[in-house]
Amino acid sequence: MDLQSETIEKIDKLVPRYPTMKSAALPLCHLVQEDQGYLSKEAMEWIADRLDLQPINIMELVTFYPMLRTEPTGRHHIRVCRTLPCALAGAYQTCKKLEEAFNCKVGHTSADGEVTLEYVECHADCGKAPVVMVGEDEYTNITPESAEEFATKLKNGAL
Ligand code: FES
Repeated sequence: MDLQSETIEKIDKLVPRYPTMKSAALPLCHLVQEDQGYLSKEAMEWIADRLDLQPINIMELVTFYPMLRTEPTGRHHIRVCRTLPCALAGAYQTCKKLEEAFNCKVGHTSADGEVTLEYVECHADCGKAPVVMVGEDEYTNITPESAEEFATKLKNGAL
């Protein structure tokens, strides 16, 4: 597996900081996912090998934590906040509109690979709910009424 040299450096610095190799497993999963975009079977095996663990130890973590992905994300990674203030402002309906606009069920990647649509928890910008992230960019006040226009702009590269 090809990891960037900076990722390898971070891993080499991080591992000795933990009292046991197993404790470093979750942070390593995050670092490898940041590098690769997701955790393939090969990546999980690599992490297990690096920490003297069995691949099943890593697979258990990856399947437990929803923020760890086993498949590549779409070109646009859309995350809709669903914590209470956003939910009260219509986040679930916003997400429904995005599902329709991109023909993609939440928790999945569209067949054309354009979007991955997921729920996330609070982004600490609750005063401007509903909040939607696209990659690392935050968009606020994406109401059910404005969600379609938001989707169109995203499709047209106008965001
Ligand atoms: S609840 Fe959505 S940003 Fe805080």
